[in-house]
Order: sequence, then C-alpha cells, then structure tokens
Amino acid sequence: MEKRIIVALDFDRAERALKLLESIDPALCRVKIGKELFTACGPSLVKDVCALGFDVFLDLKFHDIPNTVAAAVRVAANMGVWMLNVHASGGLVMMDQARQALDSFGSDRPLLVGVTVLTSMTKPDLERIGVQANPEEQVSKLAFLSRDAGLDGVVCSAAETRLLRAQLPDEFCLVTPGIRRAEDAGGDQKRVAGPAEAIRNGSSYLVIGRPITRAESPENALKEFNSAIASHS
Ligand code: C5P
Repeated sequence: MEKRIIVALDFDRAERALKLLESIDPALCRVKIGKELFTACGPSLVKDVCALGFDVFLDLKFHDIPNTVAAAVRVAANMGVWMLNVHASGGLVMMDQARQALDSFGSDRPLLVGVTVLTSMTKPDLERIGVQANPEEQVSKLAFLSRDAGLDGVVCSAAETRLLRAQLPDEFCLVTPGIRRAEDAGGDQKRVAGPAEAIRNGSSYLVIGRPITRAESPENALKEFNSAIASHS
C-alpha cells in the first residue's frame, strides 16, 4: 500500500507523541515532526521515532543563507528522516545547495520539499512584505523555482493542488495539509479539503493532525482516512 497519509505529531512532550504512536501502524501512515515537538525533544526523539519503523517528515522549514541551510539539511538527513523541507522563498541558490547537500546519501537520501506560501498568509499580508503577486501566483512561482532547484516537491494547500498538478509532472510531490472529513472541526484551518478530493486534485501526501491525533480512536480515524482515499490512489 502506498502510504499517503502523514500524521502530524503536534505535541509538546515526547510521552504524548510516543503514546499516539503506540496506537498507529507504521505500515499505514508516515508521521511529521514539526517545530513544537522538535524544540521540546530534539534529535533523540526523531531517531527514536525512526527506530520504531515510522517514516519521518522533519518539518523544520529551514530558511537561512545557503551554506547554513545546506549544513542543517545534511545533519537532518543523518538522523534518518524520510522527508524534510526548506522555505522556497529562501531562493534558488539556497535550495540548490540544500539539494546538493543530500547527494552523498545516494538513493537513501530523504526527499526535500519546498514550502511555498504559508496558508496563513493572505494577499494583504504578502503586500506588506513587498510581494505584489496574489497568493496563487506566488505559490506557482515558488513551486517552479523549487522544481528548477531539483527539489522533490512542495508543500501547498489543497486549493492550489489542482493548478500545480496540471503544470508539474506526476513524480513532483505535492504535500497538502488542511485535510478534513465532513464531520471534522476545521480548527484554525481556513481552506480545507476532504481526503478524496485532495487526492483527486493531485495531492501526493496528505498531512493530517488533529482529526487523527485527537480522535477517540486514532487507529480507527487513520483507517477511515485510508479507506476514503483507497479508491482514488
Ligand atoms: O491538525 P491539522 O490537521 O490542522 O494539522 C496540520 C499540520 O500541517 C500542522 O502540523 C500544521 O503546522 C501543518 N501545516 C499547515 N499548513 C501549512 C503548512 C503546514 O497546516 N501551510
């Protein structure tokens, strides 16, 4: 089975993350460790989660001068993660050097994806940082820049998936958060999509947090999400 669901381990303590991992099967999903859990627990937890057999997406969104980002990417890859990311707005040279930093890992290298425009940013927010393009144009621009730098894909909202998939090859990964079933609360997510809809629109991987991690039975919630996308994968 192609594991398309990435469960977001948005916790502030290792025990909480490890308890959740006891109830889900690494054969049925991958997991994401972001800034909160990483800041709380550091690389040792990342290594522990990898050792449990989970593919880890290390979501630290690096953005710095090229040399610094390349060095950070190399260290992250040494932890054995499956995927990691950088901000595409860090530019072509930064992304290119980050990608080259992974060359020595050969076919074991983690996937490297670019963050386009954060889904929390609106057109006025972009204008205030000097970007005149509307969010969709900016997402496209940064997705093409990520591809030109040799990255494996981008993180984008479900709203942009269809447009990007039409312009980019199938093997270019589109990683999509903001996934909700009809019965789920949106939480702070403004633009949400159903799991089957996101896959139909061309998403490669769905990042799902609270609808699984806060479910009464995370195991059942994960099964439901997997069934919802099974006929569309
Ligand atoms: O709980 P929920 O399903 O909203 O979690 C979504 C996850 O995806 C969170 O870890 C969040 O930080 C992440 N994310 C997002 N929107 C982005 C990028 C990442 O929701 N644009």
